[in-house]
Amino acid sequence: MSTLPRHNPFEEPALASTYDRWFETFLGRVVDRLERDLIYRLARPRAGELALDVGAGTGHFACELERRGLRVVGYDRSAAMLQQARAKTDRVLWQQGRAEALPFSDGAFSLALSVTTLEFVDDLQRALAEMVRVTAPGGRVVVATLNAASAWGRAYLAEARRQETPFHYAHLLTPQEFVALLRPYGRLRWSSAVFIPPSGRGVILADLLESLGQLGARRRGALLVGRIER
Ligand SMILES: C[S@@+](CC[C@H](N)C(=O)[O-])C[C@H]1O[C@@H](n2cnc3c(N)ncnc32)[C@H](O)[C@@H]1O
Repeated sequence: MSTLPRHNPFEEPALASTYDRWFETFLGRVVDRLERDLIYRLARPRAGELALDVGAGTGHFACELERRGLRVVGYDRSAAMLQQARAKTDRVLWQQGRAEALPFSDGAFSLALSVTTLEFVDDLQRALAEMVRVTAPGGRVVVATLNAASAWGRAYLAEARRQETPFHYAHLLTPQEFVALLRPYGRLRWSSAVFIPPSGRGVILADLLESLGQLGARRRGALLVGRIER
């Protein structure tokens, strides 16, 4: 029996064409910096490596990996999101397809990254297993996903109950679920980013809150980030 793929809100051209606007707002810039700090600290990208970005979307992370000197495949299910990505650069190889069935051979990449995508896939276990499969021994699988137990996760879910936002179609993980999902695949290091509230209050203290949060409250940050070492 086959099941229909879950609706992907990111197929909508209107959403794809406005997706990057968040990164241009004041709060969006701060949040993006905090998230990238942790993602790249765990991912440790090295120039010359071959990297895969699963759910690359408009290419926010794939493009940065390319600028850092990696050879990058940006992979996503949405033609509309990839159209935005392609307009940014042709130095990334953009490819359309589903995370649950990656068209790459075992161990093809040194780094497989996925940011705020596993929330939206049909089969989370399968998508993660695929990322692990295509990562070479000695490589890293880095996964970042919105924390269901954070103030941001709760706010996004509450908003999605009031109106149809992309999070209406998302399945968010708690830190416990996140760790249980990743741990079977190898040595795991994880933390979280973004300890300022969704209102943006206290943004001036963002860096201090980040250090304190990562030191003693990693279950509370908005974005859970984990690295599996293969
Ligand atoms: C919130 S966006 C994140 C985009 C990008 N990683 C970023 O952080 O800006 C989620 C992306 O996951 C993609 N996606 C959803 N389900 C997918 C699947 N099964 N396989 C591949 N991509 C998928 C969507 O098309 C969308 O581009």
